[in-house]
Amino acid sequence: MTTATELAFIHRLIPAAEPGKPPLLLLHGTGGNEDDLIPLGRMIAPGSALLSPRGKVLEGGMPRFFRRLAEGVFDEEDVRRRAQELADFVAQAREAYGLAPPVAVGFSNGANIAAAVLQLRPEILSGAVLIRAMVPLQQPPAADLSGKRVAILSGALDPIVPADNAKRLASDLRGSGAEVQHHILPSAHALTQSDVALARDWIREL
Ligand code: MLT
Repeated sequence: MTTATELAFIHRLIPAAEPGKPPLLLLHGTGGNEDDLIPLGRMIAPGSALLSPRGKVLEGGMPRFFRRLAEGVFDEEDVRRRAQELADFVAQAREAYGLAPPVAVGFSNGANIAAAVLQLRPEILSGAVLIRAMVPLQQPPAADLSGKRVAILSGALDPIVPADNAKRLASDLRGSGAEVQHHILPSAHALTQSDVALARDWIREL
């Protein structure tokens, strides 16, 4: 068994304050770290355990979860490798901390790696909230996502994520059997209060 100190990502773990609530896997955006989304996790799922790793890839000193060749152009070989590495970490952290399969809550680059984990290792996550996500893999594997609930929160004015790309992600995940809610907010790339409210309501209904 892997102990908490041997786990392969720098991370924070906030233990559950209320048993039975779904744990969250918090995945930050480019330039973030393991502390960034803890306040969001507390707001949208009070009492849940929070597992928050730091992305291992550095872009000009900024942590990310996989390499990109340019903004919105991903190194898909790295996406696949890093998604597997993150999935292994989650499996080991579940064992070390005694956690149920988590709901991923990812922002931007963190949402993109969460989508890749869903497609490559569906057993790792019980669902996902993907905030400002894009298609991580142009040719996703044939995953079975039946029974998985996914919320995609996109911004109609997002300069980074083209509207069609987010729609395609929703349709890829639905095509694999996930139950997807896709909300398009009147916002840009940054997180807003509407994201917080939608994510909180969605998690409450799980
Ligand atoms: C990515 O690289 O994952 C997306 O372009 C979002 C970002 O991190 O800016």
